[in-house]
This record gives sequence, C-alpha cells and structure tokens, in this order.
Amino acid sequence: MRRMLIVLAAIIVLSASGIAAAYFLLNRKGEGRRIAEKKGIPYLAIMAHRGVSDLAPEATDPAYRLALEMGADYLEADIQRTADGVLVCFHDDTLDRNTDAAQVFPGREMDSIDKFTYAELMMLDIGTWFNEKNPDRARETFHELKILTLEELIDIAESHDNRPGLYLETKSALRYPGIEKEIIDLLKSRGWIEDGASMESIEVGNDIDVDPLEDGDGEVEPAPVRIADGPARVILQSFEDESIRIMKDLAPNVPRIYLVDEELEEKKGGWNELIAIAKKYDADLGPSGYQAWPWRTGEAHRNGVLVHHYTLNKPWQMRLLRFFGTDGIFTNRTDLALKLYRRQKMQPLEEYFKRIGY
Ligand code: G3P
Ligand code: CA
Repeated sequence: MRRMLIVLAAIIVLSASGIAAAYFLLNRKGEGRRIAEKKGIPYLAIMAHRGVSDLAPEATDPAYRLALEMGADYLEADIQRTADGVLVCFHDDTLDRNTDAAQVFPGREMDSIDKFTYAELMMLDIGTWFNEKNPDRARETFHELKILTLEELIDIAESHDNRPGLYLETKSALRYPGIEKEIIDLLKSRGWIEDGASMESIEVGNDIDVDPLEDGDGEVEPAPVRIADGPARVILQSFEDESIRIMKDLAPNVPRIYLVDEELEEKKGGWNELIAIAKKYDADLGPSGYQAWPWRTGEAHRNGVLVHHYTLNKPWQMRLLRFFGTDGIFTNRTDLALKLYRRQKMQPLEEYFKRIGY
C-alpha cells in the first residue's frame, strides 16, 4: 500500500513538473500578448460563442444582447446564405436540432440552410428547443425567437455603449461560393471595414492592470468595451483554407483565423503544417481546446501566429488554457470568462436579463 502511494505521488509530481516545464520552456510568457498587441487584438480575447449561448438560445437576440451587456470582446457568429441570398447567423447545416422545422416543413428539416428562402426561415421558432432542453434556464421570452440576419447582428453590436468586435465564420464555406465578398461588402457598407485601413496597433482598452495568471474575486469594475473602435474590429474565420485565402485577397487588413481541429490536423499532416497554412495567408489559428498543449501554442507564437481556442465553458477549462498560454477563447459563458480572466465584477444573471428586456 505504502509503495503504491509513493509511486502515485511520484507520478503526480512528475506530471506536474512536466506540465510546468512545458509551459515555461515551450511557451514563453508574454509572447502571445506581444503578438496580440501588435495586431490590435485584445489579450486574452473573450469571444461570445453564438452569444452567451449557455444561458439563452444560441445565435439569437437575447444571446448576443447578454454578451453585449456583460462586456464580451467579440460577438461570434456562423454566417450562411439563404436560397434568395440573405446572410444569416446559423451554425448547423440543417434545421432539425434547434428549430421547429420538422413541424413547419415536414420532410425538409434535414435540408441545408441554402435550400430555404429568408421568408421560410422566418416561419421558424429558434428558441423553444432551448427551453425544452434546459428547463432550469428556460424563459417564457425565448419562445418564438427568430433567426438573425448578419445585418441584425450588426444592429445589435451597434446598439450599446459597449462596442465589441464581430468575429464571423464562413460556415460550410464551400457550399456558398462568393460568401466572403458578400460578408465583406456588407461590413464595408456598414462602416466596419474600410478600404486600405491599416492594422497598426492602437489602444483598444483591453489591457488590464491585473495579473491574468491569478484568479481574482470579481473586484474590477467593468471598463467600456472599445474593440469596434480599433483595427481588429472584425475578425474573419473559417475551417476552409480556401475561404481564408479569399478573405486575404479581398480584405488583407482584416485579421483572419484559420479554424482547425484534430481531424484537420491529421488530414493536413500535423500541427506545423497548420501553422504553415496559417502563415501562408497571414492568418492566426483557431484550434479546438483539445489542441491547446503549450508546446503547440509555443510553436505558433514562435512563428508569429496567435492562437484562439474553442469552446471553453467551465472555469477549470479556462484556468487550464490560461496556464497553457492561450491568447483567447470562444465561450458560451462570457460571464465566467470575464470574471476569471479580467476579474470583472459581475452582476447577478437576472440583472442582465432585466437590462436586455428578456
Ligand atoms: O468559430 C469557433 C468555433 O465556433 C468553431 O466551431 O463548430 O462552434 O463553429 P463551431
Ligand atoms: Ca463558429
């Protein structure tokens, strides 16, 4: 028994020192921050993944308004196109998981979004599924929520004293030829992208006077979010390197994130190959949390590539990734990330719902 305990203790000590060594030797502290500052991107960046989508139905008005009210750096959205050419915020390929398409359009619920007109999508309820799946977080006001257009998301982003950035993904990009130009043209028409805008570093008000490696007690008063006034007010993202190439051609000064996962890593021939693809298109990387090992992030940093990980919703995951040296996270719980990474003083959740009218 005693021997077993000694072996166990040795394993724990060795693993802990291994992780610490990896962190300090392979991912030098401060490297990510330097790269982020150069690009005008907040550090550690907090992306409201489909809004605050653990507390409200994903990609809906209340999910994004919560993120705005709490103080996320970016509103993240997946952009697709309807059969009649409207850009909408919707993640899945099909409507079956989080709408009532099976009742409204029986037999078409497994069709892809591009097979539906905008008017048809507007017949769907995108909120009730959330109440049924999460009775503890259900709210009467979530019934009959509608899919948002990209225009409406921009309206939301512009509706508050907080001015977060937009972090937009071309979802299933190969199904939507030309969607990069349509997104960029719309953002230009709304003043979010300027021709020839430089990526010079400016103060975006994200740097905080606390040690991000220490947990706080939520004692820092929230500062107004000013990302939309900076050079990285828009970040474009895609799992398709061809889409990233097009983004670079059309809007070279708009930061881009090449999204990757373990499957893609294997397919493309390894982590270094992903870094090489990102560098080829002057992009940064957006890997899954399972790819967050510090030596990988360290290698990206040595190549001048920033790393934003998805999707971290639990405090222990956020702490671990901070320790591993992430440069930013996509999260369904903006509130937890702000508290942990910024030590931001948060209001009771009901207060945020009251402020946004839900
Ligand atoms: O865009 C970052 C993250 O959202 C990628 O995964 O499937 O949630 O879009 P997904
Ligand atoms: Ca996404």
